[in-house]
Amino acid sequence: MNQREQFTTRLGFILAAAGSAIGLGAIWKFPYITGQNGGGAFLLIFILFTLLLGLPLLIAEFTIGRTGQQDAVRSFKKIAPGTPWFWIGILGMVTCFILLSFYSVIGGWVVGYLGMVFSGDLSSLDTSGYAALFGEKIANPAFSLTVQFIFMVVTILVVAKGVQKGIERTSTIMMPALSILFIILVVRAVTLENAGLGMNFLFFPDFSKVTSETILEAMGQSFFTLSIGVSVMVTYSSYLPKDQSLPRSALSIVAMNIAIVLLAGLAIFPAVFSFGLEPDAGPVLLFHVLPTIFSQLPFGMFFFAAFLIVFLFAALTSAFSMLEIIVAVISKGDIQKRKKWAWIIGLLIFIVGIPSALSFGVWSDISLFNKSIFDFADYLVSNILMPIGALLMALFVSMKMKKSALYEELKQGSRISYGLFRTWFFLIRYVAPVLIIVVMLDVLQIW
Ligand code: PHE
Repeated sequence: MNQREQFTTRLGFILAAAGSAIGLGAIWKFPYITGQNGGGAFLLIFILFTLLLGLPLLIAEFTIGRTGQQDAVRSFKKIAPGTPWFWIGILGMVTCFILLSFYSVIGGWVVGYLGMVFSGDLSSLDTSGYAALFGEKIANPAFSLTVQFIFMVVTILVVAKGVQKGIERTSTIMMPALSILFIILVVRAVTLENAGLGMNFLFFPDFSKVTSETILEAMGQSFFTLSIGVSVMVTYSSYLPKDQSLPRSALSIVAMNIAIVLLAGLAIFPAVFSFGLEPDAGPVLLFHVLPTIFSQLPFGMFFFAAFLIVFLFAALTSAFSMLEIIVAVISKGDIQKRKKWAWIIGLLIFIVGIPSALSFGVWSDISLFNKSIFDFADYLVSNILMPIGALLMALFVSMKMKKSALYEELKQGSRISYGLFRTWFFLIRYVAPVLIIVVMLDVLQIW
């Protein structure tokens, strides 16, 4: 029998789950897709999806995990033996595999930027200088593949060592540090000249920019930032003792996520407009804006380095969770096998991610369905696979688990009223499936 470690405290679990949730999604991806999708209206739709679908689905995954007490695949097998529902877990593993393959490209950029700050490459440049230097670096295969490799190796090393005591501890410092650095950044950004233009862009919803594609992007983004639909949260909550409140944990993770997303938006958009950059610059947006804002702060490079370190940590804790759920299923809790499989899977992910990295340089001309390789991989994961995973998760909970058993599980450690429980159940049983299907089909314009 494998013994299962449990998180030592409620805070430990929340930090690990929040660590998975808060990452590149909120800090890097949110600003650039908001920029591409016209600003305020996108933010509003994103927040609606997060509250209406994200929160209930997060609670659903926690419930599955704590009921099943196993990994991403065996939790489903245990709850619904002899049925094909465990394929939800396999789909989650596949999704995380592809996700990490391109996530590590951006994680690598953070590593690379950190290197540039320490080597002094960045001193004495202006806005266009940063953008040009960065563009040059990521177009260079030797650079981008090296940093991506470093990011993957760190991820592998941590996952190979097993469940995450050290991370739990480090998170207690890193998460508050992230918020503090962001607040410093926001204060600087909103006091820049013309910052108001950025605030308008972010908070004034212009619905003429909303298309069915925008709505799907916003839904995908809300799943992406909460790590939903891929059984990561099922796996993490399987370690959670019964005296902890699932709804309350979910609520605090959602609240933290929205807070970070807002901070990121408040830091980036005023600066984008003040420096005359384009909000729809795409995946490079954050990396063009950040050095410029920091260069306008006293001790800018020091703060920039500090920011990159916590940012890297946030990206890594998300990356760990993606690799972790795959390795946990394959190694079945065996420590020796865990080491071996963490390396095998991790290196495979790196190899599969190479084309995504090259699509910012030598392979930038290759396009799949009118998208670069990187954008295609991201689209596949965020707007197709994660929504399908989330849909199946909602169906599993509402069709396969007994309503009374769900209520019992949710009541453990929390004082959730029956009325609230029914509201949640209604959202999972009807609202989530219908909304996900309609939003996905709407993009295909089949009606
Ligand atoms: N939520 C993570 C982020 O925002 C990404 C992620 C998705 C992590 C799915 C794990 C699983 O960066």
